[in-house]
Amino acid sequence: MAQKTFRPQPSDVFICSYPKTGTTWLKALAFAIVTREKFDESSSPLLTTLPHGCVPYLEKDLKQIEENHNTHFPLVSTHFPYTALPRSIVSSNCKIVYIYRNIKDVIVSYYHYIAKYCKVSVEDAPFEEAFNEFYQGISWCGSYWDHILGYWQASHEDGHKILFLKYEDMKQDTPSSVKRLAEFIGYPFSNEEENTGVIENIIKMCSFENLSNLEVNKNGHHRPDRPDMVENRLFFRKAKDDDWKEYFTDEMIEKIDKLMDQKLSGTGLIL
Ligand code: A3P
Repeated sequence: MAQKTFRPQPSDVFICSYPKTGTTWLKALAFAIVTREKFDESSSPLLTTLPHGCVPYLEKDLKQIEENHNTHFPLVSTHFPYTALPRSIVSSNCKIVYIYRNIKDVIVSYYHYIAKYCKVSVEDAPFEEAFNEFYQGISWCGSYWDHILGYWQASHEDGHKILFLKYEDMKQDTPSSVKRLAEFIGYPFSNEEENTGVIENIIKMCSFENLSNLEVNKNGHHRPDRPDMVENRLFFRKAKDDDWKEYFTDEMIEKIDKLMDQKLSGTGLIL
């Protein structure tokens, strides 16, 4: 549907990601940055709406995107690989922000999400099976490495304007990442904003601790009237780096490290 009908506005900014790489967090931050003149930490829609409700998905929320275009709200998100984006986006000059994350933590996060979404207990879903499928590139959005490479090539070989943000770097130095994000999407912070704590307030509002403890994200549902309804709490698990160490055997580590070396060598991207 999006492939045929979607027409981006020149000011649109696309938030692109593979599932479980930190999309929810990036959407919250981008939304807070773009709407900061209208809302603050006591009035933001992020306090009562899952970030995925604030920043619509290209693959699912075309009507909301159309309405947003009428109000000049620029953020659109997608899990589509670059090669599956509508031609109208690929041939536009629209900016893209791409978030990526350590593959081992993505696998663990994906494993838990799918188990909860399908209402299967993790005891009945061996991690090894999930690992093997992911390793073979069998998953919802295709292989993770092809997803990353598609955007990387679009940026380096086709010159598309893409900001790459790594989840772990964002956690390590959130203020710098938020400033880079704001500048890239065309909403830079003024000196006055920097000096009066606007950046810190946005970071605090969008933190895992804050968002995951909001009533809407503990007990609310996203798209409650639709068959693809999902519990909001599924988007918030641990947000911990290196959680994978609890799950990976030495053999799995060796296999995945070797695969990543092969797939991403020459890109400078380290997962
Ligand atoms: P874990 O499963 O490792 O905890 P996505 O948003 O792409 O679906 O990714 C989900 C992952 O991001 C989950 O990781 C989730 O806990 C984490 N996450 C959600 N909100 C976050 C936030 N505000 N800050 C940091 N991480 C967050």
